[in-house]
Amino acid sequence: MPRLCWWQFCARSQATDRVALREGATMVQVGTPPVWSRRRVDPAEAPGRTPWRTDHPLLGCDYNPEQWPREVWHEDVRLMREAGVELVAVNVFGWAEIQPAPDRLDFDRLDEVLDLLHEHGIGVNLGTGTASPPPWLTTAYPEVLPVAEDGTTRWPGGRQAWCPSSPVFRELSLALVDAVASRYGQHPGLRLWHVSNELGGHNSLCYCDVSAEAFRRWLRARYGDVAALNEAWGTSFWSQRYGSFEEVLPPRLTLSTPNPGQALDFHRFSSDELLAQHRAEAAAIRARSDVPVTTNLMVTAHQRDMDYWDWAPHLDVIANDHYLDHRLADPAAELAFCADLTRGLAQGRPWILMEHSTGAVNWQPVNIAKQPGELLRSSVAHLARGADALCFFQWRASRQGAEKFHSAMLPHAGTGSATWREVLELGRILRALPDLAGTQVSADVALVFSYENQWAADAPNRPSELVTHLQQVHQAYAALRAAGVGVDVVPPGAPLEDYRLVVVPHLYLVRDTEAAVLQDYVAAGGHVLVTFFSGIVDEDDRVHPGGYPGAFRDLLGVGVEEVHPLPEGVTLRLAGGTGGTVRRWTEQVRLTGARAHRLLGEGPLAGRPAVTVHEHGAGRAWYAAADLDPEAQRALVEEVLAGAGVQPEPGAGPLVEVVRRHAVGPGPDFLFVLNHGDRTVTVPARGTEVCTGTAVDPTLEVPAGAVRIVRLADEEPS
Ligand code: GLA
Repeated sequence: MPRLCWWQFCARSQATDRVALREGATMVQVGTPPVWSRRRVDPAEAPGRTPWRTDHPLLGCDYNPEQWPREVWHEDVRLMREAGVELVAVNVFGWAEIQPAPDRLDFDRLDEVLDLLHEHGIGVNLGTGTASPPPWLTTAYPEVLPVAEDGTTRWPGGRQAWCPSSPVFRELSLALVDAVASRYGQHPGLRLWHVSNELGGHNSLCYCDVSAEAFRRWLRARYGDVAALNEAWGTSFWSQRYGSFEEVLPPRLTLSTPNPGQALDFHRFSSDELLAQHRAEAAAIRARSDVPVTTNLMVTAHQRDMDYWDWAPHLDVIANDHYLDHRLADPAAELAFCADLTRGLAQGRPWILMEHSTGAVNWQPVNIAKQPGELLRSSVAHLARGADALCFFQWRASRQGAEKFHSAMLPHAGTGSATWREVLELGRILRALPDLAGTQVSADVALVFSYENQWAADAPNRPSELVTHLQQVHQAYAALRAAGVGVDVVPPGAPLEDYRLVVVPHLYLVRDTEAAVLQDYVAAGGHVLVTFFSGIVDEDDRVHPGGYPGAFRDLLGVGVEEVHPLPEGVTLRLAGGTGGTVRRWTEQVRLTGARAHRLLGEGPLAGRPAVTVHEHGAGRAWYAAADLDPEAQRALVEEVLAGAGVQPEPGAGPLVEVVRRHAVGPGPDFLFVLNHGDRTVTVPARGTEVCTGTAVDPTLEVPAGAVRIVRLADEEPS
């Protein structure tokens, strides 16, 4: 099977063409291929797209002036200028305001807002306004409303109550986009188009009859005939064979486990349907305006339904929304993973943090306020990992509505608050970094992450519900971050030759072509660390023949006779003097070329390998066949990194992030140090520290909880 290069990889994912590109099918190239390289990419290298550029990092926000009387708008722009706000998203939820009735458009207030922002030198990030249909629309066309898995309608009254496959919604939303783009496409204040809002945030999976018909169309295009669908879904099981596409439904609520192939394809279809909405809105805009177009993605732990590797090539600039999630074990590590993944989606180019919060959100069970300094730490964490704009939701805290207890740049407490002071401080830091924009992050380690894997690996009836895909990805990422190395997040099948080490956590679903990329990489001298239950199924969720770990058996030099997940709360000691335990997962490993590196010390598999290493070609393939505890995982990662010759950033560790942004061409590099701990840390650096304006040579002191950014002198101390 020939290897896919990156542009082919992107082309595979073009929504309407994915169907022609199942493994073994004909490759179709769509548009001009984006150029992918992890290092020093010229931002202008984005053929076929309108590149977004800024010559200095921007501070921005969502602004909802329709919630406020006009007098407040004037105070708002004055304070925005005081804070240094330069990019303001408006009209995101504007539909009911600008089209109050089917036959009436009213742009008066939006005209005024755009002109006011522009007069004050504030750039506009203009929402198409299609995020949420107005009540007149869903009253006149109730068929637009989404339907849940159990057949119940999701009613208007909240937001995003529309079916992604609805032709009625598509037509009316595009008419609105055309009206907005015609009116403002040439507005001098316009800097960016903001399609919809968090597409799929609430309505990603719709099971209505319209969706069912669209799903059937999508399946026809993917499989051609129903026999191929039957083959892919394995419908000879449980009497599920289809006689025609007309018999196929979305995976609506069933009495027992639904067909896994059907569920997997429904995820792919649903992601494609929402991407199609983005593409349709973007096309309507591009017919009227040359300003770059994006939509705000949700690269977060709780977004599982959109495959953003497919979406990324369709955005002129990658934009992400990220909120610290206090339901997770390590919210700061998850932030860092998401920022690195966002940079991966941007193919290394600078990206926009379209939303984050100054303090608490309002949608977690307990909404934790940020500690002093935490606003700066979380904002600068995104900046360090490649963001060229930092925007908040939202500018002014609402007095009414569902989000009145969500933090804002201007909180209910007003400008006398610590939040406002930290916002001003962030603005001041950004203004002191004009030459940061366009600099890029590079890493020696790649971590493979796939949305499809979440869908397939976390499906019901797997060996253990205690293991989830993202949990394993987060664990691997946290170990790398704690070891102080930078990580690029890449999709399966991406070119790997620039990396010293590739980490492949729990990659359950793997195409032969993707496994071949990894195999060739190691044969040519690369190092990989694969973790348990990887390489198990193909793109149809069909088990790779010959025993586990399927597609990676030869690469890893092991065979797994049976997996042995552990009950909740059970841990088993690893053998040997270095300690460590495993939990949740073990495997009955047979060595077929690899050697054992760590053995299980107790339990039914005592004496069997828990970690193996295989010299394969000129490279090395490690396999963690058990779920190691965080300390054991970190120790393993450090050993693997050392073997691959990856150097940690001096001073970096679990509580101290050290990240570099490199100049593309002439210009300084920048060193970011974020101290999440409770004592001062020291790292080697030479240059000028931007937050304090002091010279640094040969070391930088970073107080507990602080961030420091050094504009590095040409020669660093070695
Ligand atoms: C999302 C949405 C915003 C707002 C925030 C609150 O990011 O895009 O409209 O609801 O969440 O955290």
